[in-house]
Amino acid sequence: MSKTIDFLGESAAVLQLKNLALKVSQTEVTVLITGETGSGKEVLARFIHSNSRRSHNNFVPVNCGAIPAGILESELFGHEKGAFTGALQSRKGYFESADKGTIFLDEIGEMPLETQVKLLRVIETGEFQRVGSSETVYSDTRIIAATNKKLPQAVAEKNFREDLYYRLHSVELHIPPLRERGRDVLLLSEYFIRQFEQKHGISFEGFTNDAAEALLRYNWPGNVRELKNLLESLLILEKGRQISPEILDRHLVQRNRYKSLVHDPDKSEKHELSLIYSSLIKLHQEISDIKQLLRQQPENLHEAPPKKPLLLPPPLPEQPPQKESQQETEVQTLESLEKKAIADALETFGGNKRQTAKALGLNERTLYRKIRRYDLGNEH
Ligand SMILES: Nc1ncnc2c1ncn2[C@@H]1O[C@H](COP(=O)(O)OP(=O)(O)O)[C@@H](O)[C@H]1O
Ligand SMILES: [Mg+2]
Repeated sequence: MSKTIDFLGESAAVLQLKNLALKVSQTEVTVLITGETGSGKEVLARFIHSNSRRSHNNFVPVNCGAIPAGILESELFGHEKGAFTGALQSRKGYFESADKGTIFLDEIGEMPLETQVKLLRVIETGEFQRVGSSETVYSDTRIIAATNKKLPQAVAEKNFREDLYYRLHSVELHIPPLRERGRDVLLLSEYFIRQFEQKHGISFEGFTNDAAEALLRYNWPGNVRELKNLLESLLILEKGRQISPEILDRHLVQRNRYKSLVHDPDKSEKHELSLIYSSLIKLHQEISDIKQLLRQQPENLHEAPPKKPLLLPPPLPEQPPQKESQQETEVQTLESLEKKAIADALETFGGNKRQTAKALGLNERTLYRKIRRYDLGNEH
């Protein structure tokens, strides 16, 4: 817990950043860390914590974007027994766990407005209430927040409270993207390669000069995380042999092709959405086909189609029971369509209710209700 974390790098930009971070770590001020994804926001937050007088207490990272909006508040502030359905026990939240330590609120831009109100109060007074309780709890927690989003834009769009933004923004540490850190790319590469050599028991023959130049020229959209992942797969897949620019290119192209589908959060969200929509459209087509079938063969709806009586007058063209049962089939099919769409979307988003709700254009409460109704809860 008191392990010292370093933020590696010797470029002027990084040295300046570390210098500022060290100054800040000696104070209690709330910090906002900004930077692209993979640029090291969490590493910097840990660096500040481990250099502060709080280093012997907890560092509690919370990804505000990954916790469904409906439960984020109870995760942060805890809840009392019976505060909501399913709250069988009272439970302390992250703020209480981080007492005398540091809480790291990652992706703060994703925090719902109601929770932002409570957060602002904690920042100002250190006070909050567990969900379902009126008792005030005090926590001595240092707050570090981070975002890869442009918060001023979120403020302008009324998705982020202006007062909270100014409170967080009092000290902003901006991490430059890796492509602006010059030869740090090589320094970090060396460090990660040593780690992976040990981890996998493979020794690395190094990069050719041209390949090292190519590493310096590449723009690293996924920043340090991308570099780290690339090096690990280079080492394993090329079994430690020397890396030429051609080999490097091949891996970068392959990774980017894969990444454009999966890794980049923006792109992958779009891809997932298009999958959901295309599966909805396919299901819709299936429903239309079923409807058409029903229209063409109404007798199929009955187990024993009425025989044409020879003496009685022929049945009316629209028999009420027939219509009813047709409707029933249709309603059932629509429900199963909805159930399937929700189950599929939940799976696509790894059970994340917030993203699922967003993708399906439902509000989250409605989604929860439907999950309960279709009994989809246990699968995620
Ligand atoms: N300066 C650095 N020194 C050492 N490791 C780093 C550095 N920056 C990033 N990393 C590593 O890169 C990965 C991504 O860092 P992280 O802090 O999670 O990025 P972010 O939170 O900005 O997306 C992690 O595995 C982290 O250990
Ligand atoms: Mg992060």
